Amino acid sequence: MGIPPLASGPHGTDALRPLLDTVLDALRAGTAARGGPLPPGGPRAVAARVADAVGEILPGHGDPEALRVLVTVLAEGAADPAHPLCAAHLHAPPLAVAAAADLAASVLNPSLDSWDQAPAASALEALVTRALAREAGAADALVTTGGTESNQLAVLLAREALGTGLRIVHGANAHHSVHRAAWLLGLPDPVVVPAPAGTLDPAALDEALTRVPGPHLVVATAGTTDAGLVDPLPAIADRCAAHGARLHTDAAYGAGLLFSARRRPLLAGLEAADTVALDLHKLGWQPIPAGLLAVADAADLAVLHHRADYLNADDDTDAGLPDLLGRSPRTSRRPDVLKAAVTLKTLGRTGLGALVDEVCDLAEEFAALVHHRPGLELHAPPTLGTVLFRPARATDADVAAVRRTLLATGRAVLGRARAGGRLWLKATLLNPHTRRADLAALLALVETAAGTGAATPTPPGTAPEGHHAP
Ligand SMILES: Cc1ncc(COP(=O)(O)O)c(C=O)c1O
Repeated sequence: MGIPPLASGPHGTDALRPLLDTVLDALRAGTAARGGPLPPGGPRAVAARVADAVGEILPGHGDPEALRVLVTVLAEGAADPAHPLCAAHLHAPPLAVAAAADLAASVLNPSLDSWDQAPAASALEALVTRALAREAGAADALVTTGGTESNQLAVLLAREALGTGLRIVHGANAHHSVHRAAWLLGLPDPVVVPAPAGTLDPAALDEALTRVPGPHLVVATAGTTDAGLVDPLPAIADRCAAHGARLHTDAAYGAGLLFSARRRPLLAGLEAADTVALDLHKLGWQPIPAGLLAVADAADLAVLHHRADYLNADDDTDAGLPDLLGRSPRTSRRPDVLKAAVTLKTLGRTGLGALVDEVCDLAEEFAALVHHRPGLELHAPPTLGTVLFRPARATDADVAAVRRTLLATGRAVLGRARAGGRLWLKATLLNPHTRRADLAALLALVETAAGTGAATPTPPGTAPEGHHAP
């Protein structure tokens, strides 16, 4: 093998075109071989198939078939969020246009740690972050790898603003990454306010803020991981104002509601937060990663300023080269903003809002189907795309076993969550191509796995109307 071709440069596209054909053919073949949402057989069977297909990963002499073989085996062994019966997590099927834009990002490979590595990409990032910050009622936003990094950055900014005596106060419904952020940043364990109804109770928050000495960072959630609920943001903001507490709202899941004219009111009060986490790889249909941290006061970001002579020497900055190093604690950084920018502009507010409404409507219909099946119990009507349900009269162990049975067969992927002291199956609907018949097929599979189903389930993907998985 000679020197392999590059992806960019004058001959880059010529070299890429046949390789893209290989990738697309392999994706198609692997997806067809899998058939369902998940490869059957569980972890050991999948690992064996992968090991078998891969052979030696670093052979003495290279293998020109590697691209086809590895993409095929990855697609065959994928949990495919574009399959309508894959509904466990906040794991979105990426839009084709976003994935295509992400290819351009990989090819051009701008690195957003200095202007001389990313001239246009840094300009685009500035436009997109400002526009999305405005959507959230904030002044500026940083690009992150997702909710975890956004929450961590929010805690860091709070610690820098308020000192290391900072106490984080959050509901029991908050994402685990808030606790991890405290640990990573050397802060005391957060004060956890019980949230038996699934949302942060302002009265219980008030009690905690009164009892625990500050300064405080309160973390609210707009779109909880387990149940898709939105904390009462205006009342929480009031309590924070009364106690002089800083407020971070984790809207990693819920921020997509901003695009929907119908559902945007659910996020009233978001603009009162000092910082907001938003993820476009959840209700934004982006390939991972696509996170943002919006800040109400752009001056808060000054603490991230950092000097490295090879990237942002003072004389370069004085001469007008943008200083990018303070836009992230990372150094080399992908232009994740490209795929997001392409998506926002291609779909517009209406297009994105329609996707958000579609998956939320699907969740409402799924909940109604559960409600009308005597063999199943619904936890509560959904707010976002998350529905908790369980086989009626099942124990927690039965619920967990149903989920694992479905995983082992590869016929459906559901999540699990605790609510009201019991374990529930969790369906997170994020695929706007899902049909009503798919929802019924999913429930039939659950009933059969639980031994409560009267009918034989429709095999996944062959529901009467079929599904639209792209
Ligand atoms: C509310 C919430 N915050 C943060 C996160 C973490 O996001 P990421 O996985 O993008 O780091 C999640 C993930 O599901 C989440 O549900």
